[in-house]
Amino acid sequence: MKLDTIITGGTLVTAAGKTRADLGIRGERIAAVGRNLASGNRGAERIIDAKGRYVIPAGVDVHVHLDLPFMGSKSADDYNTGTKAAARGGITTVIDFAIPYGKETMNRAVDNWFKKAEGIACVDYSFHGTITDYRRHLREMPSLIERGIPTAKEFMIYANMGWQSDDGAIFSTLEEFKRLGAMLMVHAESCGVLDLLMARYDNPKDKRKYGVRLHNMTRPHFIEAEAIQRAITWCEVTGGKLFIVHMSTECGADLVKEAQERGVKVLAETCPQYLVLDDAVFDRKDGHLFASQPQIKTKADQRRLWRGLRENTVSNVSTDTCTCTLKHKSIWKGDYCKIPMGLPGLETMMPLVYTHGVLKRQLTPEQFVQKCCTDPAKVMGLYPTKGSLDVGTDADIAIIHPTKKTKVDWRKMETNADWSPYQGWALAGFAETTLCRGTVIVEDYKFTGQNGYGQFVPRKNPGNL
Ligand code: URP
Ligand code: ZN
Ligand code: ZN
Repeated sequence: MKLDTIITGGTLVTAAGKTRADLGIRGERIAAVGRNLASGNRGAERIIDAKGRYVIPAGVDVHVHLDLPFMGSKSADDYNTGTKAAARGGITTVIDFAIPYGKETMNRAVDNWFKKAEGIACVDYSFHGTITDYRRHLREMPSLIERGIPTAKEFMIYANMGWQSDDGAIFSTLEEFKRLGAMLMVHAESCGVLDLLMARYDNPKDKRKYGVRLHNMTRPHFIEAEAIQRAITWCEVTGGKLFIVHMSTECGADLVKEAQERGVKVLAETCPQYLVLDDAVFDRKDGHLFASQPQIKTKADQRRLWRGLRENTVSNVSTDTCTCTLKHKSIWKGDYCKIPMGLPGLETMMPLVYTHGVLKRQLTPEQFVQKCCTDPAKVMGLYPTKGSLDVGTDADIAIIHPTKKTKVDWRKMETNADWSPYQGWALAGFAETTLCRGTVIVEDYKFTGQNGYGQFVPRKNPGNL
């Protein structure tokens, strides 16, 4: 069989194990896996030497916010810079949240998000719906599923933006989604007590005294844990399927594990910022840059989340990319309530999880692939098209050097961020080469792909792990 591209001499790493084998690509798919593929006359136009490298399925980031109007500005990475950053980070599929504004329908929001992506995305993409008014939006879910979008999110906070869902909304959505085979994603923070704590410190004296520290003083661990507990209760009694987004706490991870052991269909992702950063960042002069919702927690939480990934009770790692520039962040002017929330993340997710997971022996290389590439595809209905190295699946591949480290420097990155939470950190695991559906889009660590190459990927109903 004629092959277009052959990747030779590398070690293939999948969630199931490591093998020394070549990988042959024909068109957009993996066509052969075996020894010495390049030795027969297969007329391959391109041979990629992967000697001494890991060859892995490219990453799947199921939680991004590109070109999102948010907190008085717009997230600074759009579908062009965000997906270029993804490619350099070894990620070839991103899933964004299409959010309805005002009285918009979910379908209109999805149309709007298609417009943001089409013609400029450089890697593949999909969308989640967002339910901000369940009485209207639930009716639309069958049509979203038909469009290949079998997941939607509800926020338990953000009343000020008109996005918040109450318990009735979450309960009704889980009931209806159970019938449809869809999965509800939830941003779990407890708004009542959060608002009360914020009101308690809403005076110039405390704001001066504590500065950005108020960001985590008003969000103790129980703010996330109580909301996760409540969402799990609604999931358990309805029998629906629930996915906790950006889980940041030890107690949250315990609650999810206990529920899973009782047979409740709940999954949870975490993000690199909760695995490698701790709340000491808020003591820095530029601590406001690190503000996100939920906020960065403690070293004990980090340890618990790594354990959750190893034990498989934390389903996957996602970025929650919501890039803010220094200028955006600077509007806080000493009032933590005004800080635009969110961090850049697409370029550094895989290197951070590889370096702090694999090289620090918290994860095996196989678990790294499982949690960044395969399981996110499985839980979001993209597997095996994405997240796999099996013959017949999309040739979405990252080639990484197992030990070579590069210092993070935002000036040399594709993201529009003019800072990085990880500036100066030495990380291995950047993609030396990335292929998206058989086309090389990163070569020698540089983006070489095409604007508009990325395609929408319709998804099936979400699977179990
Ligand atoms: O602070 C964050 N995470 N911003 C993005 C929006 C969200 O809640 O995920
Ligand atoms: Zn959120
Ligand atoms: Zn988010």
